[in-house]
Formats: sequence, structure tokens, C-alpha cells
Amino acid sequence: MDAPYVMPDLRQACATGKVLGGPTSSDALVLFGAMGDLAYKKIFPALYHLVRRGHLAVPVIGIARVGQGEAQFKDRVRDSILAQGGDVDQKALAKLLSLLRYVGGNYQEQATFDWLKRSLGPSVRPAYYLAIPPSLFEDVVASLTKSNCMKDARVIVEKPFGHNLASAQRLNAALHAVLPESHIFRIDHYLGKEAVLNLLFFRFANSFLEPIWNRNYIESVQITMAEEFGIEGRGKFYEDTGAIRDVIENHMLQVVAFLTMEAPTGLHCEAIRDEQVKIFRTILPLDPNNLVRGQFEGYKNEKGIAVDSKVETYAALRLEVQSWRWSGVPFLIRAGKCLPVTTTEVTVKLRKPPLDNLAGESSNHFSFRLGAGEISIGLSVQVKRPGEELVSMPTNLSVLEQGPTEQVDPYERLLGDAIRGDAMLFVRDDAVEAAWAIVEPILANDKAPNTYAPGSWGPAEADRLAANVGGWHNPEEPNASRFSAKV
Ligand code: BG6
Repeated sequence: MDAPYVMPDLRQACATGKVLGGPTSSDALVLFGAMGDLAYKKIFPALYHLVRRGHLAVPVIGIARVGQGEAQFKDRVRDSILAQGGDVDQKALAKLLSLLRYVGGNYQEQATFDWLKRSLGPSVRPAYYLAIPPSLFEDVVASLTKSNCMKDARVIVEKPFGHNLASAQRLNAALHAVLPESHIFRIDHYLGKEAVLNLLFFRFANSFLEPIWNRNYIESVQITMAEEFGIEGRGKFYEDTGAIRDVIENHMLQVVAFLTMEAPTGLHCEAIRDEQVKIFRTILPLDPNNLVRGQFEGYKNEKGIAVDSKVETYAALRLEVQSWRWSGVPFLIRAGKCLPVTTTEVTVKLRKPPLDNLAGESSNHFSFRLGAGEISIGLSVQVKRPGEELVSMPTNLSVLEQGPTEQVDPYERLLGDAIRGDAMLFVRDDAVEAAWAIVEPILANDKAPNTYAPGSWGPAEADRLAANVGGWHNPEEPNASRFSAKV
């Protein structure tokens, strides 16, 4: 049997580009929102894995509101690692705990930042991770500056970056007033996912695809980000955000960019980011008529949700990429909570060959699974149906699958990159503004969204968006070993 295909490390491939900014590693990591959900679920496990691989040895200072102390912080980090299950490397855990410090205090009080400055001790290049609500970013950056904590610092900010185009521009201006762009790391964890990066490799590390990867051969593209679960206690966050700001403006548009961008001109950070922004600028601002919003039944009973909430937990839309390569190809995107399965799947449907009697009703399509622990590429093709008749039938070639153990978690990858100063997989200022410009026309919604039953594929109204491309393609269970061959 052939040796398994091992995906090359994109960062290594791009290492040559690092000479550009000549980045040096941060010598301390400061985590704002240290007692929050994101830190518990994603950041602590990422730190543990970085320590385990020998990639993190700098102090990690957690900051959260008063009422907690260093001992509670360490307990929470330990709990988070143990809650991941599996074998825990006790040496790595002990090492991580030894790196932890804690600063308790209110983000509105300057004293918190003065205390932080003292806790940073000899650090000269700290990295600040703002795992806090976007509404606090500007104040925190201003206070860090006032306490003299910003010199040679890096700032890592969580998505959504702003609430709309104007607030993103304001936030960019506030950050640029104290830091150069090369020191700002806007996280979209989809850019750190193996399966999303694999889209780049599939497209640009193979030559067979290029001749057909365009409007002449591709009829339509669909992306479905389905989540079986609801808002999981994140009521306050979700009421401020909704599906469009939570995942469409960022995760889904990044996937569109990787599917549609031109080949980067070189293997360095800005080559990829230049192509991202170029493609965002060719996507027309979304037409509200091409949007269907939904809200799952029962959403309003969740904690922190207004009784008359009009926030969407589902959004389906149709967009156009107005480039030489893509003009006229419809892109259908939908994302929702409480859908039948949890998986993100891209379906790229090719035009039918001209001879109906050979090809039958189905056409070829590529499928890409982008969920956690999944790197799967499927290609549906027509083959001769066995038997006397000379007719075709669809079958599926499953091109690549990899187990989760070989993968690097997106937060581990991105945190490691930010600490080392490698910005390739972070969203640049111009890209974040271009992405907001795309969704800007669909942000103001005063009408109530359509309701849908939990466990369904969302409101039936969304069907009209996909009516002329053969309807929505509903992904199967993620662990199904084959993709549906029929589209
Ligand atoms: C986050 C969103 O950015 O991405 C969540 O805030 C969503 O609402 C999550 O569930 C999905 O990420 P993943 O990696 O599980 O697909």
C-alpha cells in the first residue's frame, strides 16, 4: 500500500517570507477574558498543545474581572485540559501551569493595566490576546497604551472584528494609531483549519484542476455550515451577533476566498493575503433579496434572549463573484444552528456533459468536508451501470480522508503563529473591511426572521435561492464514509 499522503506544512513552505518583517517571538502572552468560555474551550487546550510540542515557554498572564485569583485561574486551566479527555501529558500540563500568572481587575480601571505592566516584568515584546467582546477592544487598547504596555507589542483579536463596516474601520484606525499592521493579528479560526488550508493545496498543488476551475466548467458552488446544536448558553453574545456576523462575514467568506482566489504569486504571507482581498473586492455587496434569515423555534426561550428577538440563527444567501474566472457562477451559502447534522461541506457542481444519453441526469461534483477532524474530498463521477444496459450511474471517489490525530488544532496553529509573528493566516485590515462591505447591505434587518423547526434544514423560503441550481445539497452525517453521489 502507498504511504499515506502527508500534507506539507504551509507555514514551513512560507518560511521564506518571514524575512519580510523580520519578526521576533513575543516574550509574554497576556490573555484578556481569561475566565471566559473561549479561553476555557479553545485557548487553554491550544496553549497546552503548544507547550507539549515545545513551542511555548513564555509567561502567560491571564486577566479577568476581580473576584478570582491565580490559584482559581490555574484550576480552571487544569480543568479545561482534563475536560478534553484522552491521555494528558502531566509534564506538559505542569509546565503550562508553571508559566501562568494572573491579574484580576476591571477593564475600565487604569489600575488594572498598571498592575499588568508590573506583572510583565522584563518582557519587551508582549502579545495581547483580546478574547473579550468587541465592544471592549478600543478601551482596552487605549488603557494598554496609557500604561506604556504597547511598545513592540502584538495584539491578537477575536472575530467578529467590529459590528459593521464603520465600526471595523474605527477599530482599525484605533489599532493603527498605536501599532503597525504587522503587529495586529485578527483571528478567524477557519483560516487555521487543516481542511480549509487543504482547499489551497488541492487547488494549487495540483495541475489537473486549473483548466476546469472556472465559469466554463463550474455551474454552481454551495457551502453549507450546519450545526446540530443551538447557541449553547451564549445568549448575550448571539443576540449582539446573529448568524451573519458570527459566521458568514468571516468563516464563510474566507472559504469562498480560498475556493475562488487566483494562485498566490509567491510563498510569503502577503501573497496569500493579497489574493484574499482581491477576491473580496470582486464580490458584489449582497442583495437583501438574495438573503433568507431563519430563527429556530425555541430560540426566544433561551437565557439572555429578548422575547421579541429578531436575531437570525440561520442565514442562506446567494452571491456573485464578478471576476473573469467566476462571473455568472452562483455561490449559495447557508449556515445555521439546530440543523440535522454538524458539518461544513462545500459542493462544487460541474456543468453536465452534452450527451444526455451517456451522462443521465447527474453531473460531476467535488465535495469538501471542512469540519473538525475531517479532511475529505469527494468526486462524484458517472460510470457504466453494471449489466446489459448501456447507461451510466453516479458513483463517488473518496479522494482523501485523514484521522483527527494527525491534525493541528486551528487555535494551536494560530496562537503559535501570532506569538512567532507570522501573520499569513490572519485577516489583514483591508480584507476585514472588504468582507464587511460585502455583508453591509444585509445587516440591517427589522423584519422577524422565518422560524424553523430544530432538526430541520431551515426555513423552506430558502429553497427559492437554490431553485435554478437543482436545490440545496444537504450534507450527510459527517462520519458517513462516502458523500452523496447525486446532486
Ligand atoms: C465560531 C462561532 O466562530 O465558530 C460559533 O462563534 C460556531 O457560533 C463556531 O459554532 C464553529 O466553529 P467550528 O470550528 O466548530 O466549525
